Amino acid sequence: MPIRDMKPHDLEEVINISQECFGKDAWSRKAFEREFQHPYSYRFVMEEEGKIVAYAVVWKIYDEAVLMSIAVKKELWGKGIGKSLMAFLVDHFKGKAKKFILDVRRSNLRAIRLYQSLGFKIIYERQGYYSDGESAFVMSLDLEEENGDKGQEVGAFDLRGKTLTKN
Ligand SMILES: CC(C)(COP(=O)(O)OP(=O)(O)OC[C@H]1O[C@@H](n2cnc3c(N)ncnc32)[C@H](O)[C@@H]1OP(=O)(O)O)[C@@H](O)C(=O)NCCC(=O)NCCS
Repeated sequence: MPIRDMKPHDLEEVINISQECFGKDAWSRKAFEREFQHPYSYRFVMEEEGKIVAYAVVWKIYDEAVLMSIAVKKELWGKGIGKSLMAFLVDHFKGKAKKFILDVRRSNLRAIRLYQSLGFKIIYERQGYYSDGESAFVMSLDLEEENGDKGQEVGAFDLRGKTLTKN
C-alpha cells in the first residue's frame, strides 16, 4: 500500500482514525493542524484505493526520531498495516537520525509486540505517565546498528501472557 506525506486535506480521515483508536485521548483538529507548522514534524498516511488506512506523525529533533502518533483504521487491525508503516518509518529515518524513540502504554501489547518485532527495546518505564495513571514504556531503536538496537535493555521486561512483568 502506498505511503505518502499527509496533506491538510487528509485531516478529516486522519482525525476519524485517531478518534476511533484513541477515544478521548485523540488529537484535536488544532493539534493536527499545528503539526503542519513545525519544521521538525514529519507526517505520513498510508492509502488503499484512495482511502487512508493509517497515519503516523514523527518529530525529528536533532539526532532522534520520536514517534508522536501512529494509528491504523480499527477494522483493519492485525493485517500487517501497522508493521509495514512502522517499518517504512524506520527505513525513512535511517541516515537522518541515530535513534528512534517512542512512548507506549504498558497495557498496549499489540503495539509493544509490533515495535519489538522491528527491534525496538524497552529502555525505561515512566510511572504514571498518562492522565489515567497508567505507565508508559519508552522504547528505542538504534538506527545506526545494522541489526537493530544492540544497547542494553534497561530492566528485563518480558511478555508474559496478557501483561508485561518486570523481572
Ligand atoms: C498498534 C497498531 C498501530 C498496530 O497496527 P496493526 O496494523 O494492527 O498491527 P499489525 O497487523 O501490523 O501487527 C504487527 C504486530 O502486532 C502484533 N499483533 C497483531 N495483532 C495482535 C493481537 N491481536 N494481539 C497482540 N499482538 C498483536 C504482532 O506482533 C504483529 O506482528 P506479527 O504479525 O509479525 O506477529 C494498531 O493496532 C492501532 O492503531 N492501535 C490503536 C492506536 C495505538 O495504540 N497506537 C500506538 C500507540 S503507541
